Amino acid sequence: MITIRPAREHDAELLPDIEQSAGQAFRAVPELAWLADGENVSAERHRGLIRQGACIVATDGSDRPVGLLSAEIDGGILHIWELDVRLDLQGQGIGRALLERAIEDARRGGLAAITLTTFRDIAWNAPFYGKIGFRILKDIEVDQRLADLLRGEAAHGLPVNRRCAMRFELE
Ligand SMILES: CC(C)(COP(=O)(O)OP(=O)(O)OC[C@H]1O[C@@H](n2cnc3c(N)ncnc32)[C@H](O)[C@@H]1OP(=O)(O)O)[C@@H](O)C(=O)NCCC(=O)NCCS
Repeated sequence: MITIRPAREHDAELLPDIEQSAGQAFRAVPELAWLADGENVSAERHRGLIRQGACIVATDGSDRPVGLLSAEIDGGILHIWELDVRLDLQGQGIGRALLERAIEDARRGGLAAITLTTFRDIAWNAPFYGKIGFRILKDIEVDQRLADLLRGEAAHGLPVNRRCAMRFELE
């Protein structure tokens, strides 16, 4: 039994392990397998974002997080930093449920749009977000904030030509 609820500060300690597990999905993509061994977002950073109120988790029957959507509101836009579901529970609709809840909350909060950056060509990245209604932004539509994020990702070794910014319009 999975429940979607707002993240609470005490969840933060458990979230790096979920990201670690979720990232193992990239072992299926040889040239991106290194991502599975990458640094995870720290519990401290999660705690800071949770305090701002836009993070949600998927929990099991014991109220233990098994998935997370970490996000932040900036200038009327919800930006999703992380979406992760524990590897053994992927493919069961939990990621979609987290995303749909974030969309619902953002709409209720009167926000204009939701943004994120992701891989263009990985089935559980851009094509997944696309099915839910996110659109890949053309270069000319990418604003300074998203351009800076993409540049930062490139500096961390992510392949620039496979990355993209996406946006979901709420208005
Ligand atoms: C992205 C992620 C959170 C999705 O969560 P999930 O619970 O597995 O997703 P769902 O079960 O809701 O599936 C949603 C869609 O994703 C796609 N998908 C998910 N896993 C997939 C896989 N292994 N292969 C192909 N497609 C997949 C499918 O299109 C699916 O849609 P469908 O049910 O209509 O076929 C999860 O795959 C994950 O943690 N991945 C590793 C971390 C990551 O890439 N995060 C996103 C960074 S932008």
